[in-house]
Amino acid sequence: MSSTSIVGMNIVQKKFQQLPTGCLFKFIAIPGLILFSFYALFFIHTDNQSLDLISLPFPKSSDCRNSSTNSPTNLSHIGFIVIGSLNSWKHRKAYTASWWRPNVTRGYVFLDKEPTQEFLPWPSTSPPYQINYDITKLRAYPKIVSPVQVRMVHSILDMYRVGDKGLRWFIMCDDDTLFFVDNLVEVLQKYDHTKYIYVGGNSESIKSNARFSFDMGFGGAGYALSYPLVEALSKNLDDCIERYHYLYVSDHMAQSCLADIGVSLNLEKGIHQIDLHSDISGLLSSHPQSPLLSLHHFDVIDPLFPSKDRYESIKHLMKAAKVDQSRMLQQTICYQRETNWSFSVSWGYSTHIYESIIPRSILRKPLETFRPWARRSRPPHFMFNTRWLTNNSCETPHVFFLKSVEYTPDNQVLTTYVRSSPRNLPPCSATGSHSADPISRIQVFSPSSTRKRYEVIECCDVEYEVETNAAGVKMRSCMKDEVIA
Ligand SMILES: *[C@@H]1O[C@H](CO)[C@@H](O)[C@H](O)[C@H]1NC(C)=O
Ligand SMILES: *[C@@H]1O[C@H](CO)[C@@H](O)[C@H](O)[C@H]1NC(C)=O
Ligand SMILES: *[C@@H]1O[C@H](CO)[C@@H](O)[C@H](O)[C@H]1NC(C)=O
Ligand SMILES: *[C@@H]1O[C@H](CO)[C@@H](O)[C@H](O)[C@H]1NC(C)=O
Ligand SMILES: *[C@@H]1O[C@H](CO)[C@@H](O)[C@H](O)[C@H]1NC(C)=O
Repeated sequence: MSSTSIVGMNIVQKKFQQLPTGCLFKFIAIPGLILFSFYALFFIHTDNQSLDLISLPFPKSSDCRNSSTNSPTNLSHIGFIVIGSLNSWKHRKAYTASWWRPNVTRGYVFLDKEPTQEFLPWPSTSPPYQINYDITKLRAYPKIVSPVQVRMVHSILDMYRVGDKGLRWFIMCDDDTLFFVDNLVEVLQKYDHTKYIYVGGNSESIKSNARFSFDMGFGGAGYALSYPLVEALSKNLDDCIERYHYLYVSDHMAQSCLADIGVSLNLEKGIHQIDLHSDISGLLSSHPQSPLLSLHHFDVIDPLFPSKDRYESIKHLMKAAKVDQSRMLQQTICYQRETNWSFSVSWGYSTHIYESIIPRSILRKPLETFRPWARRSRPPHFMFNTRWLTNNSCETPHVFFLKSVEYTPDNQVLTTYVRSSPRNLPPCSATGSHSADPISRIQVFSPSSTRKRYEVIECCDVEYEVETNAAGVKMRSCMKDEVIA
């Protein structure tokens, strides 16, 4: 089909999707088409739009949109393909269990071999398992450079062959990927699942993207494929594996196969591969105002909370996620003018106090608490700007981490953050030496009834009585033309 006729179809489909029954389409389209033809006869040489419209095909009965294809996407439409292996599953199943909702989320963990006795009975807190197709049977097998990686990419076809009904999206991920599934539903609703759609995220590391592709969704971070795309990919996956037998990373192979059927990546900012080392708190404390979708690589980074181990940290983070995923990690900034302090809240995770007024344009850059993925490489390392750590009292925050999340009697959500360690610096003299050392606790109030709107930023107000040891922050909508500086 030519690209012009696709454009034409888009226009018409959009109009008719709003109708309660798409079958109406069929009946309107026939007289409609006659009209378009007349129109085209007169304007065909002067107006490209009419050319688009005349090439509109009659809808086949399968195009007839009914409520099961145009109802809003929900969790039951998403099938997860969790790539595991018997070796890693033992300690990683806890990562998956932290976000998996038994009998609600759909999909499987794909394993390299049948689980041994120690894994049985298979717990209901884990996704049910499937065993991958034996790729030694592939025609291309003798040429394949990395059989493990081909097994991984082949899971797409294996999942398709399971044949579960009613799926609109397949999500590829690893067994050490953490998902925020309510946000995932919201983000996927933006896309048309009846078209070929590929949604994912880059690596944080410039070099990783450069080595593979800037147009590649990293599988540890998780990527989404619409059902029709999976169908198309499944038809020629084995040929594609043969064509790219020399590639040694499954996501790169998948990306190459997708490129060859004309599909490129849609980037989502909430998808995180975490190709970083050590302490990622700086990154998580300056998350863009885009729904948090995934986190990954927990085995190579420090625990997310300084006083907890890796598993406890994830469980702790998920307590906040259970209450309000829409605000998870979203960075909100406000000021206490009487003391010249800036507050930066990363909802459900951390809050920072700076003893100076720092505009949002600066605070939104992550503090470089982490180390690059490739140990001996030269900067620039990251796909985003960072702030360097200093011992400058005016630029170094007091850091507080999530302690608890609860509902208040007047039905707000209260998240409380406590100081992890003393800052050990003198006060910032440039702005009046108002030390924030006495503050030990920050309470953040947010609405419980309204999800934060997608990619609309929120503002806040600080409530602080001088000389007390706690500060309050109230989330609110930003005022028209409000400047955060
Ligand atoms: C609606 O669409 C689904 C999937 O395309 C199809 O299986 C079903 O039969 C359709 N229902 C009706 C009433 O046409
Ligand atoms: C999800 O949408 C389907 C329609 O496609 C509907 O039948 C089902 O009840 C919905 N599930 C939830 C949990 O809303
Ligand atoms: C899931 O459903 C099965 C069968 O319908 C039931 O036996 C099991 O208890 C359910 N598990 C949970 C965690 O709800
Ligand atoms: C800050 O000062 C401490 C103690 O003097 C030192 O160990 C640390 O390396 C300094 N950090 C930076 C970023 O300069
Ligand atoms: C806040 O900082 C400015 C300098 O940036 C200073 O002139 C002002 O006096 C400070 N205000 C207070 C209340 O200390």
